[in-house]
This record gives sequence, C-alpha cells and structure tokens, in this order.
Amino acid sequence: MLVVAQISDLHFCGDSDRRNRIAGVLDYLRDRCGGAANIDALLVSGDLTDEGSVDQYREAANTLVTGIRTLTLLGNHDDRAAYRSVSRPDDDSDAYAPINTALLLDGLLILALDSSIPGRNDGALSEATLAWASDRIAAAGDVGVLVAFHHPPTAVGMPFMDSIAQTDPAGLEAFVRSHSQIIGLVCGHIHSPSAGVFAGVPVMTAPGVSSTLNLPFEGDDVVNDTQPAGIAFHIIEGRRLTTHFRVVH
Ligand SMILES: [Fe+2]
Ligand SMILES: [Fe+2]
Repeated sequence: MLVVAQISDLHFCGDSDRRNRIAGVLDYLRDRCGGAANIDALLVSGDLTDEGSVDQYREAANTLVTGIRTLTLLGNHDDRAAYRSVSRPDDDSDAYAPINTALLLDGLLILALDSSIPGRNDGALSEATLAWASDRIAAAGDVGVLVAFHHPPTAVGMPFMDSIAQTDPAGLEAFVRSHSQIIGLVCGHIHSPSAGVFAGVPVMTAPGVSSTLNLPFEGDDVVNDTQPAGIAFHIIEGRRLTTHFRVVH
C-alpha cells in the first residue's frame, strides 16, 4: 500500500495567520501521521503562493519542511520564473517553460504536470507536457500512474471556478484514454474537496489549505470562512485508488 498526501492552494502571502494555518497542516503530516515513515509522497498541487513573488517562494521553501518526498506543481497564482529562481536554481531551461516532474515509487508513477498559462487564470496541459508525460509512462514499465495538475478538467458546480478551469481538455482526454495505467487524476484550484470522473477515471480535487470556496448555495461571499484547512490522502493498492479527506483545526 502506498500513501500519497496532497495539500493544495497554500497561497503563501507573507501573512502570519496564513503561514500558521499552513504550518498546522504540515505539523499534522509530520507529528500525527509520522511523516516520511508512513507517507510515501507529498503532492503540493499549485497556487503555492498568492502572487508568485520571489519573497513568497522563499517563505514557502522555508516553511515546507517535512522530510517527505515532495512534488510541487504550479497553479494560476504562481510564476514559473520566480519559482525556478528559488526552488530550481540549477534549472537552465527557459524561465517560463512548463515545470513538470515525475516520481517513480515501487508500483506507482506520480506525474506532477504544469497546467498554468502565464498571465491567465484558466489552464491547459500543452501538447509538449502531455508528450513528456507519455514518455515517462512508457519508461516506467508496468506500474499504475497518478496524474496531478492544478486545473480540474471538468465543471465542478462552482460557476466562477468553472469559468477558469481547463479551457480545452480534449488533448488530456485522449491522453488518459490512451494510457490504461492511469488510475486517477488529482487536482487543486477549486479550494474544495470533490470527487468526479473524467475520461473514465476518477478525478479528485484536494481541499484548499488557505481557504475553502463557497458552493453557490453556501453564501454570496467567494470564501467560506467557516471551514478549516484540509488534506487529501490517496491510498493506492495495486491499481486501486481510494481517497480520504481530513480537516486540520
Ligand atoms: Fe487557489
Ligand atoms: Fe488556482
């Protein structure tokens, strides 16, 4: 059994209340859950910072210390060049090229893909990113594949977030349907834990760490300030994916 913890939408912004809320989630993973002894990978699924500044990425790097193998992907609030300058100083590729990473565990390949589009709030997975992902799957052999990116590929019943989801997921759908090893898709962006289906596989979104966003019938404000931070735990046994959610007060 493998355990992948997912936290999303941290939105580091220099504010101490925000930082303390994030730190509480990290404490839960380290202290309550046993950190790397029980969690095989930690996925941080975008909107790591609020404004994509170098200072906010430094704050994130100084706070996100768990000892757990971590994959970070970027969202619409992030900035590829600023992230690279802080977290990937030896990366000599184009400053604004997509940042895609992979982690091969014993029986599972995790792909963390960049669905951000510089300067925009909606998202897309480029042909180059999907080709890169296909190459990683081909090289991994006979293992299940968990594919992560920030923007959900389907409408989720939240009108504003649906307006800034993935604009044209046809390429993603073809990619998913052509790789039977894919056991699920995991996303962030909507600051709300949810479960759905896309291209015949589960698609889960993680709770927002920084905040939860209202469903249309929960209130007129964008942010639902009654809700605590949350974590998704993806449990993988063979090709079976089960996702659990926790809140952290
Ligand atoms: Fe966000
Ligand atoms: Fe987002």
